[in-house]
Amino acid sequence: MSEKDGFPHFMLKEIFEQPQALKDAVVSRVSLAEAEIRIANEIRISSEELRALRRINIVASGTSRHAGMAGQYMFQDLLHLFADVDYASEYEYRNPPIGPEEITIVITQSGETSDTLAAQRLARRKGSRTIAVTNVMKSTVAKEADGVLYTHAGPEISIASTKAFTAQMAVLFLLSTYLGQVRGNLSREALRGWIEELLALPEKADTVLRCADQCRRLADQFRGFEDFLFLGRAVHFPIAMDGALKLKEVSYVHAEGYPAGETKHGPNALIDENLPVVIIATCDQNDPGSVTRYKKSVSDVLGFKKQSARVIALATEGDTEISEIADHTIFIPRAPELLAPILEIIPLQLFAYHVATRKGLDVDRPRNLVKSVQE
Ligand code: F6R
Repeated sequence: MSEKDGFPHFMLKEIFEQPQALKDAVVSRVSLAEAEIRIANEIRISSEELRALRRINIVASGTSRHAGMAGQYMFQDLLHLFADVDYASEYEYRNPPIGPEEITIVITQSGETSDTLAAQRLARRKGSRTIAVTNVMKSTVAKEADGVLYTHAGPEISIASTKAFTAQMAVLFLLSTYLGQVRGNLSREALRGWIEELLALPEKADTVLRCADQCRRLADQFRGFEDFLFLGRAVHFPIAMDGALKLKEVSYVHAEGYPAGETKHGPNALIDENLPVVIIATCDQNDPGSVTRYKKSVSDVLGFKKQSARVIALATEGDTEISEIADHTIFIPRAPELLAPILEIIPLQLFAYHVATRKGLDVDRPRNLVKSVQE
């Protein structure tokens, strides 16, 4: 109990550690006064090489891959650089060609996942430099990488990954802004703005955690359902994927994560009063793309309601439109489009946790799963 600091489970403790984990991942790596991201000594790849980059390959498994998917949007949006994401377990079968001006980023909390290690080794054999994003000091993936960005989230005991995931996304954002700094994509002013937003995340994560009671009540209401659909667009899609994965793994409830725009291409046939829909419908008013996507999500929710679906929406603080039409709305503090995912996953983690505890399951050690898949 003492290791759990009074929390009943490690998963809940680790969810609540996210504000601190985000601080530890970010604060020592940025200078607001100089408007500078300071990770050159960790990357250990020359600025010349980084300036020449034409493509980024990202390889990971499970939740770490979802962080990689969020990273893909960050790299492409901030750097206009093509970024590809692979399942580590599929990487060698796809046997992708790697060009000279490419790097491979491997993301793994444990640093020991065998598929991710195998993918890293394959990328190296093909001549790629690798950067490891990992939570475990001196793990194998870290030892074999050219550069290492530690997530500094602290030990993650619960099998379901929570704080490592949000720290991975923060670190990937740091890496994309660092590359923007080196390659000249981001002005000092833009960098200063991003650093301010990064530094504001821990407090916003604290604010999100105040929805814990609401998530517990929602879990009480929804614990009887056997299937869920999680939807999101663009950088929010990986969060829908991870929200579904968390629910599956800790509560043994079937859940699917889907890009919201794909619903009409099939899954819509399933949507009725027996299939609750969780939709991420946050909006960054400063980003025209985000506003357009938000409007599409509003229209989706109207359609789902016509089909009698129960809808839980994640929306941005101050939004009144979506809360009028969704059955339940969880509010997230305002944040730029690319950083909002770090906040959005928190209520979904809490929801999965509470559904599992309502069912009396061993949340920290779900059946048939291990913390790091090494075979
Ligand atoms: C889900 C979860 C797993 C891991 C996956 C990769 O909550 O924990 O999906 O994310 O097994 O593990 P690492 O990150 O250690 O490579």
